[in-house]
Amino acid sequence: MIILLTGGCGFIGSAVIRHLMNKTKHSIINIDCMTYAASVESTAKFLKDSRYKHEQTNINDLNSLKKIFQKYSPDAVMHLAAESHVDRSIDGPGAFIETNIIGTYNLLEASREYWSNLEYPQKDHFKFHHISTDEVFGHLELNESPFNKNTPYNPRSPYSASKASSDHLVRAWRDTYGLPTFITNTTNNYGPWHFPEKLIPLITLNAIHGKQLPVYGDGTNIRDWLFVEDHAEALVKAIEYGEPGDTYTIGARQPRTNLQVVEAICDILDEIQPTPEGTRRQLIRYVADRPGHDFRYEIDPTYAEQKLGWKAKHNFEAGIRKTIQWYLDNRMWWQKILDQRYAGQRLGGKNNVR
Ligand code: DAU
Repeated sequence: MIILLTGGCGFIGSAVIRHLMNKTKHSIINIDCMTYAASVESTAKFLKDSRYKHEQTNINDLNSLKKIFQKYSPDAVMHLAAESHVDRSIDGPGAFIETNIIGTYNLLEASREYWSNLEYPQKDHFKFHHISTDEVFGHLELNESPFNKNTPYNPRSPYSASKASSDHLVRAWRDTYGLPTFITNTTNNYGPWHFPEKLIPLITLNAIHGKQLPVYGDGTNIRDWLFVEDHAEALVKAIEYGEPGDTYTIGARQPRTNLQVVEAICDILDEIQPTPEGTRRQLIRYVADRPGHDFRYEIDPTYAEQKLGWKAKHNFEAGIRKTIQWYLDNRMWWQKILDQRYAGQRLGGKNNVR
């Protein structure tokens, strides 16, 4: 199968590409315009492989998208390109509207024009897989059941509202035009190549450097953590076996409070690289909360597990240990980001320490 994949130099997209290249025979056209969070190193080793092509194009460039469809005649689309950081969406929502909503619209239109002109049987087998987030469902109280594919939408941040809009467009293009689309909604990912603005890589790098560890609010917010390589495997199963019109909620059943996550990172680093200053837990600082901070996300993955024949392999303890070791072993990658793109000041968290 020839898969046209957007956002393949991003954190989750690059994990999907590594999985496709290392464990399947599919070919990949990676459309990635290389924003600040993209990393060419994460897929660089495939650049000489005839099964892999990188087209540096923005999904808002409709003419270029149409040409790429004609040039490669893909059998399927996996749409991962997105602006994804909630804090950034609060500071500047415009880029989220542009990429997540308008960009998805452009990709749907390019796909629709291409698919409408396909001959059978390629037309029959074509699939458009939209990769989305559990944040579209809003947030949960402690006593509420985890999200599943029937949970009503209730996004609460500019980021999640933009992803919810893109989900609605994807369903509308199926119902209105017959484009064979389906959606996966996934919970928090973590693992190698995660850009150091999100909780786990930010805390890991700060803890390695002996810097303060910013925890928003009181640290009781809950996220359900899925190791990115497990997610990549689920997404590849979904493009192979997913049914147009369906929705799959993907998670690992590993909910933790933010404080538990930060303490786990401190304890593992203390074990691997003890410091004379004592435990890194002393570096934890409670800082001003994120506006509209969602309290709890948790996914019920039962339906996806049954339909896709997939189950997450890593529990949080195994995945976080691998992740921390990866950051220790790949300093060259993140040091460059810290030096060139991040200029240090956001590494300490954007909030003032309380
Ligand atoms: O649920 C899936 C979503 O998970 C994805 O759709 C998003 O793209 C992804 O960014 C993530 O959203 P979160 O807002 O949950 O991720 P983040 O790593 O930014 O924050 C995780 C939790 O940690 C959240 O409760 C906020 C908190 N936090 C975050 C940072 C960056 C802190 O306490 N301190 C921090 O410095």
